[in-house]
Amino acid sequence: METKLTRDEALELLKKYNKEPFHILHGLTVEGVMRWYAKELGYGEEEDFWGIAGLLHDIDFEMYPEEHCKKAPELLEDGGAEAGLVHAVCSHGYGLVTDVKPEHLMEKVLFASDELTGLIGAAARMRPSKSVMDMEVSSLKKKFKDKRFAAGCSREVIKEGADMLGWPLEELMEKTILAMRSCEESVNREMDMIE
Ligand SMILES: [Fe+2]
Repeated sequence: METKLTRDEALELLKKYNKEPFHILHGLTVEGVMRWYAKELGYGEEEDFWGIAGLLHDIDFEMYPEEHCKKAPELLEDGGAEAGLVHAVCSHGYGLVTDVKPEHLMEKVLFASDELTGLIGAAARMRPSKSVMDMEVSSLKKKFKDKRFAAGCSREVIKEGADMLGWPLEELMEKTILAMRSCEESVNREMDMIE
C-alpha cells in the first residue's frame, strides 16, 4: 500500500480543514502510533502509508462532524489521495458512521488504536508527568474500567478493535502505550512549531 502524497502535503491537507490544535495533535499522535505499528508488525516499507492514513483519518471531523467519514473522500480526493488511502481513512468509522469495513491489517490497527489513543492521551494528561513515558498498562486498565473517565472514548469500539485484530485487549493496550511513547517527543515538538 502506498500513496503519492508526501508527508508535507498530507500535513498541509490536515491543516487546511483543521484549525483546532487538539485535532492536529490527535492526527499527529495517530500518525506516530501507526508508524510504530507498521514497523512493529513487519510493514516497515509501508510506514509512510500507515502514517499518512493515521494523520488524515479525522480530516473531515472538525468542519463536518455530522458527515464524519462521508465528507472525507471528497476532501482527500481534492487533495490528491488515491482510492486506497480514502478506503483506509473511511474504514476507521466502520459500524458507527460508515459501512466501509476495515480489511487490510493497517485498517484494523487504525480502527483499534484511534479510540484507544484518545483514552491514553486523556489518562496521560491527568498524570503529574503529563506523559505516557511513565504510564503502565495497569493504570490504563483502571481508566478503561472507570466509565466516567473520558466517557467519550468508546470502550466498545476499543474492544471491537482488539477482536478484529485477534489480540487480547491487554496486548492492544501494551502495544499502543509503547507506540505513543515512541512518538510523544516528536509530536510535542511539532505542535510547538505549529502553535
Ligand atoms: Fe480519531
